[in-house]
Amino acid sequence: MVAAGQSASTSSNLQTWSVVAVEDPERKGKLSELAGNQAHIRQCPLFLVWLADLARLADIADSRGLPREALDYLEMFVTATIDAALAAQNAAIFAESKGLGMVYIGGIRNQVGVELGIASQPSLSKPDLRFSPQEAPR
Ligand SMILES: Cc1cc2nc3c(=O)[nH]c(=O)nc-3n(C[C@H](O)[C@H](O)[C@H](O)COP(=O)(O)O)c2cc1C
Repeated sequence: MVAAGQSASTSSNLQTWSVVAVEDPERKGKLSELAGNQAHIRQCPLFLVWLADLARLADIADSRGLPREALDYLEMFVTATIDAALAAQNAAIFAESKGLGMVYIGGIRNQVGVELGIASQPSLSKPDLRFSPQEAPR
């Protein structure tokens, strides 16, 4: 499913998204509460949190001593949000093609930063756990 997401186009070849897979019942329960007590978050076997992730680029820039001011522009936020949405929708279509149901949960944005440890910097989402950046399957 994630490979299907990775096959989506990304703007400028920057891959400004990440996904966090949540299977632990306790963690899903907490997410359900934070997203307005949506029972289907507790009930689903796999909950994928798709992130507009500019933190990875920030880390790379920092590690190389390169400037990263451009990441603060609204344009980059829009770019990352579109990248994440395209990846999520590719994964959704893949899941449905296999007969699996899915539903987007916009409620995840209510106060989920608390649960996932998303960074305090408003413009840079930072998950605790990220899959390793890797070559997108082609
Ligand atoms: C960005 C987005 C956020 C959504 N958030 C929720 C949500 O928090 N909980 C939920 O049960 N469904 C959510 N949905 C699913 C919609 O409620 C669902 O798609 C609805 O049935 C609208 O009908 P349609 O998909 O045929 O347009 C969301 C869908 C999208 C695209």
